[in-house]
Amino acid sequence: MFETIFPANFDRAASPDPAPPFSDSLAALRERISPLGEFSKPPLGVVLGSGLGGLADSIDSPTVIPYREIPGLAASTAAGHRGEFIVGQLASRPIIAMAGRLHVYEGHSLQDVTRPVALMAGIGISQLVVSCAAGGLNPAFSVGDLVLINEHSSWLDGKLGAPPVAVPTTTPSPPERSVPDSFRRRLNTCAPELAQIAQRTARKHGFQLRHGMYLAVSGPNYETRAECRMMRNLGADLVGMSTVPEILCASSAGVQTLGVSVVTNLALPDAPITADHADVLDVCEQAADRLQQIVRAIATHGA
Ligand code: HPA
Repeated sequence: MFETIFPANFDRAASPDPAPPFSDSLAALRERISPLGEFSKPPLGVVLGSGLGGLADSIDSPTVIPYREIPGLAASTAAGHRGEFIVGQLASRPIIAMAGRLHVYEGHSLQDVTRPVALMAGIGISQLVVSCAAGGLNPAFSVGDLVLINEHSSWLDGKLGAPPVAVPTTTPSPPERSVPDSFRRRLNTCAPELAQIAQRTARKHGFQLRHGMYLAVSGPNYETRAECRMMRNLGADLVGMSTVPEILCASSAGVQTLGVSVVTNLALPDAPITADHADVLDVCEQAADRLQQIVRAIATHGA
């Protein structure tokens, strides 16, 4: 029974081999994308969460780069996560997509989890849409709702540290400061420009886009009713096992970032419904079109 609940490597300590330096990973990704001409410097990135990888299939002229071909990138093992970068074009704009992400519950450190995002920042993206499945703690939400993450909190263990990519600053930091200013400035990681485009797109296409606070937990188990009650009392609208480290990594590197969750199940203390990963994937597939409309609109108008 445990095998079905826990990924095979759940109790694996972070790999005993130290990860190759970030610069090696970045050089390898650059080497793969530099022959791609106009697609070699995509300004827009997208992280496709559980069951949302379908958007990757609508990328034109795709070049697929499996994570395992980049030194220092761990393979993605969670169901519904393909574990590859896809570089190409969406709505006439170059884009790089992460089809599948890494999670702390797979045994990865926060640094490993965020390395693909740091790499996208390293090759020069300036905007990032991060999508994910989440449990809805807010009783006003329904299964299938799309929710813009306008605030977040993290209960993930560990420190993310400063991003390994150069952070653009207008004034040079004093030498004694080891953490970039942008890393301290976390009050609003949701880029208002991108949020506006997303809201406009929802209105135009006639679907509801809610907003709310996302709480990141390590999983892999879903929450108990007591935990759902506590999280809701603390002000969380959504609970999920990803996204916050990626949003922090990208926004700390100066990338405009927007997080969007699909409510795949209701995490309500008094609703005796338990979530199941297969249902989560199903609901995401149904939401994929709406998410795609948002990403397309950002590709078109976000420049
Ligand atoms: N809890 C945590 N993560 C999730 C959930 C949930 O209920 N649904 C989808 N991802």
